[in-house]
Amino acid sequence: MRTKIVAGNWKMNMNFEEGIQLSSEIAKTYTKKNQEEVILIPPYIHLSKVKEVALAAGLKVGAQNVHFEKNGAFTGEISAEQLASMKIDYALVGHSERRKYFHESNQDLLKKIKALLAEGIRPIFCCGEELEARKSDLHFKTVAEQLKILWELSKEEFAQLVIAYEPVWAIGTGETASSLQAQEMHASIRALVKEHYGKPIAENCSILYGGSCKPDNAAELFEQADVDGGLIGGASLNSNDFLAIVNAL
Ligand code: 13P
Repeated sequence: MRTKIVAGNWKMNMNFEEGIQLSSEIAKTYTKKNQEEVILIPPYIHLSKVKEVALAAGLKVGAQNVHFEKNGAFTGEISAEQLASMKIDYALVGHSERRKYFHESNQDLLKKIKALLAEGIRPIFCCGEELEARKSDLHFKTVAEQLKILWELSKEEFAQLVIAYEPVWAIGTGETASSLQAQEMHASIRALVKEHYGKPIAENCSILYGGSCKPDNAAELFEQADVDGGLIGGASLNSNDFLAIVNAL
């Protein structure tokens, strides 16, 4: 049985006080039901405090980014070793906003994944096509290209990964992929994983959907056979909305 996951990516939102309040509200109301994982992914400034709040409630904590070097003169960056020293559980890699605004290359992403794995932090690898690719019917090909770097990992390394499919045209737009569109892409991702690592690893790989996932569409998306939860942006900034999405699992 693969792990069902809901992760809230706060992006560059919430000042310190607001972030602590949000995580406290979520922690107060959340009760772990099964084997699901609920992950809070705040900005770096919140990590230490959110980790404290989350731990007591059985919530996990992730970072939004990581630098691939261990330490040194990289002003403004945070390493996997530093995240591990705070017992951070997960980190996003390759979010479309990082690819677009910070020009992260595929090789950089692979180095980030390796750096995280070396510290025992699970990468959440994001992929997804732009609107143009979808309109030109190139969405499967685009995502397959993005996944290529993952095939350089060993079976053991890959088994630690979570994949998040986030069509760029659905992020922050209010336009979600239909449950059919999500399912067919997730199934094609799982088929590629199977081709490279075999059936047991493919069956165990959690593949999350992200892009305007809200309380009113989460249940239908999560019901799909290959959708194992969600990576939530806007709706993760409100504790009621976020917990309603968690309950849709
Ligand atoms: P929205 O839920 O705001 O569309 O954002 C999705 C996302 O980018 C999560 O990483």
